[in-house]
Amino acid sequence: MPSGTPEQLDLLLPMWRELKASSREARQRAYARYSGFKVGAALLTEDGKIFTGCNVENASYGLTICAERAAVCSAIAAGAGRVVAVCVSLTGIAVPCGTCRQFLHEFNPEMLVLLDDLSSPDTVPELTSLSALLPRPFSFL
Ligand code: THU
Repeated sequence: MPSGTPEQLDLLLPMWRELKASSREARQRAYARYSGFKVGAALLTEDGKIFTGCNVENASYGLTICAERAAVCSAIAAGAGRVVAVCVSLTGIAVPCGTCRQFLHEFNPEMLVLLDDLSSPDTVPELTSLSALLPRPFSFL
């Protein structure tokens, strides 16, 4: 998928720079003791607020919480409004896992997704959408 230019991103998501910076900052705090793979996520709400999360691993590996879901929990606990975009910062495999796609879907099936691959940190994040990444979600709506 093409990354787009900064100007194109400015039109679609004027706060993309702040969102990316927040996601990268959250990634620094990842608790990735077992995999060593740090992930940061930042959610933007319609009222311009940003909520962040990082992955939190556990000795019982299956209990690990991904950065995206941590960010959603933080936003919901704070009474956040509608989520309009999420940025995920990680190295190499720059896409949210399937579980996180479904989890994000609950809070806006149409949200924009910024994929921030730190293996080329100076390039503009790739812009996609949750509906492109999760074309057939499970939903009661
Ligand atoms: N991880 C995330 O935080 N988000 C994803 O979408 C995929 C994977 C984390 C979980 C685990 O701590 C590490 O990355 C390696 O799987």
